[in-house]
Amino acid sequence: MNLYKKSLLSLALALAAPLGMAQEVTLKVHHFWPPGAMPPSKILQPWCDKIHADSGHKLKCQIFPAMQLGGSPGQLIDQAKDGVVDIVFTLPGYTAGRFPIMEVFELPFMTNSAEAAARSAWDFYVKYASKEFVGIKPLMFSTHDEGYLHSRDKPIKTMADLRGMKVRAPTRQTNKLLASLGATPVAMPLPTVADAVSKGTIDGFALPWEVIPSVKLHEMVKYHTETDPSRPALYSAVFILAMNQAKYDSLPADLKAVIDRNSGAGLSQQAGKVWDESQAVGRKPAVDRGNVFHTVPAAEVDHWIKASHPLYDDWVADMDKRGLPGKQMLQDAQALLAKYKK
Ligand code: BEZ
Repeated sequence: MNLYKKSLLSLALALAAPLGMAQEVTLKVHHFWPPGAMPPSKILQPWCDKIHADSGHKLKCQIFPAMQLGGSPGQLIDQAKDGVVDIVFTLPGYTAGRFPIMEVFELPFMTNSAEAAARSAWDFYVKYASKEFVGIKPLMFSTHDEGYLHSRDKPIKTMADLRGMKVRAPTRQTNKLLASLGATPVAMPLPTVADAVSKGTIDGFALPWEVIPSVKLHEMVKYHTETDPSRPALYSAVFILAMNQAKYDSLPADLKAVIDRNSGAGLSQQAGKVWDESQAVGRKPAVDRGNVFHTVPAAEVDHWIKASHPLYDDWVADMDKRGLPGKQMLQDAQALLAKYKK
């Protein structure tokens, strides 16, 4: 290139930025899963690929798995809020009580469908919960596939079996559920569960199938307790893909638009669907290993539903205390789940 052409090119590039032609932006993304786990590989990576392509390669993710940037899973949400990173993929419920409104989808026996829950959670967030996420721009909400119980040394068939057992829970509502069923709940995020099982700090854990092989937990327990499929799942937990609000605000309009059209209701539905589809895949390694399965029959599940029902009243009372229409909100969440259930 001759000198004249070179200076024309430099001039064009210098003019481009002020005229709104965006520069490349690399988004630092942090999460707690091992890199090959389902959510980072089937939800996060495709989203990153999509915004990369859709932005004409101007938006790029740099993904840090397994808490590589430091901190604990419970600190991820603040890492996004404080701008330590640009985006996190995590469970808001790892910070007990910080996001009480979205906890409605962590109440026991709400639904069997992660897709319905993900769609409902997004709508519910838009209607009721945006104030819970100041400084954070939620890009997606989802829940996982049906939550079950898994135990090391003895099967769990009835509430009586749970008495005296130390069982890991991911969130405040699941803690309360386990306590209502007679177990001793032990709160911890996913990455510490394997160590707690191997040391005997816990006798079992609440988890959905999807995630179990990614952390090899089917190799550390023998017994799995599922619930009759005619009843809603025992529990689920809420996930968020969350962006630092200031980072989003700093983007030029064309890149904001790329984020907007690839996030929200559509992304949430897609994530929930992937979670539902991952359930059977996650269950198979435990079957292949010859582990022991028990399905709690509907009549026994009904006892569990009754025993844990006060959690609904507690959640409504908590919302009321905050000046929110608790009963109406619970009814809305349930109506959304019914509307989106196929
Ligand atoms: C949990 O902490 O319970 C969890 C984390 C990731 C995927 C599924 C469940």
